[in-house]
Amino acid sequence: MTMFSTIFLSALALVSPIAHGALVRVNDFGSNPTSLQMNIYVPSKLATSPPIILALHPCGGTGEQYAQMTKYNSLADQKGFITIFPSTKKDTNCWEVNKERTLTHDGGGDSQGLANMITYTIQKYSADATKVFVTGSSSGCMMTNVMMATYPNLFAAATCYSGVAAGCLAGSPGASPGSADPKCANGQVVKTGTEWAAVVKAMYPTYNGTYPRLATFHGAADTLVRPGNLAEQLKEWSAVMGVTFSKNVTNTPQSGYTQLVYGDGTKLVGYSASGVGHTVPVHEDVDLKWFGLS
Ligand SMILES: *[C@@H]1O[C@H](CO)[C@@H](O)[C@H](O)[C@H]1NC(C)=O
Ligand SMILES: *[C@@H]1O[C@H](CO)[C@@H](O)[C@H](O)[C@H]1NC(C)=O
Repeated sequence: MTMFSTIFLSALALVSPIAHGALVRVNDFGSNPTSLQMNIYVPSKLATSPPIILALHPCGGTGEQYAQMTKYNSLADQKGFITIFPSTKKDTNCWEVNKERTLTHDGGGDSQGLANMITYTIQKYSADATKVFVTGSSSGCMMTNVMMATYPNLFAAATCYSGVAAGCLAGSPGASPGSADPKCANGQVVKTGTEWAAVVKAMYPTYNGTYPRLATFHGAADTLVRPGNLAEQLKEWSAVMGVTFSKNVTNTPQSGYTQLVYGDGTKLVGYSASGVGHTVPVHEDVDLKWFGLS
């Protein structure tokens, strides 16, 4: 083999790495208008037609850190699903949940880059397009709500921890504790369900399919992202999904947590965690059950 072809083949291998059992950077996943980083974890024993979980870090964090902080990758080793742990490096590493471009389907913001990571992964690993999920903490939960609104076609279900309704920070100068209009985090952006549903609809006006199922957690003692934001998320998605509050179930999934059930509890639930601040610890077991992967 000539030196030229050796270099050429090595370069090809670098363009599309398939690294099983480690979190690896992917640079060629498609259009990436806001320069996000994609990190993927493909377990050694990959399921046939694997599900995908997109997991979004909090402000100040990175995908690599969130992968370390959570148990999703050891669960991926057991269950054979793929995880994506992206990073954003702007605005104190907070997801861009304030800008019109991200709050618009194919609008050229963070949401579009994240959506392209999903479509890339579905194609490259023959993943199951009906089993794609999104989760996240704090800013990652805010972005989870935004992904549900801007790319409802991609996701079957979502869970998240200590965030705000999709559109709560719309028009704010930033999305980090230092740059954001504080009204949203303070629980002062209050809308009716009908108003929230119109906000969601405006992010992808031509979409007429179903929206992903949501289980969203919030700490009742959260002073950074006030607990009123749980009620606003629930109003938003109950109006979008057409399910109304049916009952509270106390001490679920653990002592001190109240599960707020909408409809029959298969599309929308909230969890209010008594005495818990920012953020609610990730409950990977609850997530996997909600996703139908446990
Ligand atoms: C939804 O939109 C698609 C594509 O425009 C169309 O084919 C379909 O009939 C619509 N479905 C409903 C329920 O309106
Ligand atoms: C359900 O639980 C939430 C959170 O603890 C509480 O705010 C709400 O008042 C409860 N609703 C009912 C009907 O008990």
